[in-house]
Amino acid sequence: MSDNKVQIFDTTLRDGEQVPGCKLNTEQKIIIAEQLDFLGVDIIEAGFPVSSPGDFKSVVEITKIVKNATVCGLTRAVENDIKVAGEALKLAKTGRIHTGIGTSESHIKYKFNSTQDAIIERAVKAVSYAKTFVEDVEFYAEDAGRTDNEYLARICEAAIKAGATVLNIPDTTGYCLPSEYGAKIKYLKENVKGIEKAIISCHCHNDLGLATANSIEGVINGARQIECTINGIGERAGNTALEEVVMIMKQHPYLNLDTGIKTEMLYGLSQLVSDSMGIYTQPNKAIVGANAFAHSSGIHQDGMIKNRETYEIMDPKDVGVTESAIVLTARSGRAALAYRAKKVGYELTKIQLDEIYNLFLDYADKKKEVDDDDIHKIIESSKAYKEI
Ligand code: KIV
Ligand code: ZN
Repeated sequence: MSDNKVQIFDTTLRDGEQVPGCKLNTEQKIIIAEQLDFLGVDIIEAGFPVSSPGDFKSVVEITKIVKNATVCGLTRAVENDIKVAGEALKLAKTGRIHTGIGTSESHIKYKFNSTQDAIIERAVKAVSYAKTFVEDVEFYAEDAGRTDNEYLARICEAAIKAGATVLNIPDTTGYCLPSEYGAKIKYLKENVKGIEKAIISCHCHNDLGLATANSIEGVINGARQIECTINGIGERAGNTALEEVVMIMKQHPYLNLDTGIKTEMLYGLSQLVSDSMGIYTQPNKAIVGANAFAHSSGIHQDGMIKNRETYEIMDPKDVGVTESAIVLTARSGRAALAYRAKKVGYELTKIQLDEIYNLFLDYADKKKEVDDDDIHKIIESSKAYKEI
């Protein structure tokens, strides 16, 4: 694998599916997994096999249809979880067990009533046992974002010795600042013995709206895998949004980080996940929201009509959106009205445009958005229409 390749680990079907009120059936999961495979993600976390018979079945069925990606199953550091995951992944072309345990002070004290050393022992046991089922074992240090770096390095080192191929450093509670999360990854790169044998993975939650920034800071500091979901869905405020990290790396080539994702599929997949889960995507969502390529103020529209690059930093076609939208509102200017009128068949002279623009403003003040039908009505009701 080249040094600048960042693996995309999609967890839409596991962490993403933990959204309250959302449930996907096996059929729906298979359709999404197939699309993720076409999209070019490296790993599909298909579920948490021990959690329910339905989840077990979904993981098995997904292993049967995925052609390129590694299929991954989540476990706790619990023997039976790992055994069940091993069973569920038996048919995978390449399978990965993702096992781990909470490492922060509060997790060790309140969740496990345990000690740091005992937690390391459990981690080592879990990784070693997972290795008896699959070669590829990812270890997660849950709540690593709030875990002391020295202890985190110690448990990561032990996990590598036990055979972990990937070290997941989750900011489970979405607490870290980007500088803090980046420094954590750098610290691990510099202080964990044997780190060259493993890939560091970023798994960030969005409680403070920093999941994307933290993941990018992680890869800038040496991580080479990002765990993310389509539309950023997931527990509470969600996970890192796949479409965001992928497009950030694409639009900033000097970072020299590559994902190999077929970005033209992003909008379609966003719609598929949103429809399947019944979770609508906010209009201002970066990359895939309905307004991500829509321009409504006169100043912006004028710039856009002259040259798209004045107000757009990426080509909508690159993410699967057919074209940018010039939305007509009471804030639109003459240039936008002339542009949209032309699209529906009217080539207006300057004099005609002046008259029609005044009619348009009266109309637009009463309506949120002026659509194609409205344009016909406005133009056909004008005196200028006879000359058009
Ligand atoms: O957020 C988290 O810590 C997780 C782990 C189970 C990987 O989802
Ligand atoms: Zn998570």
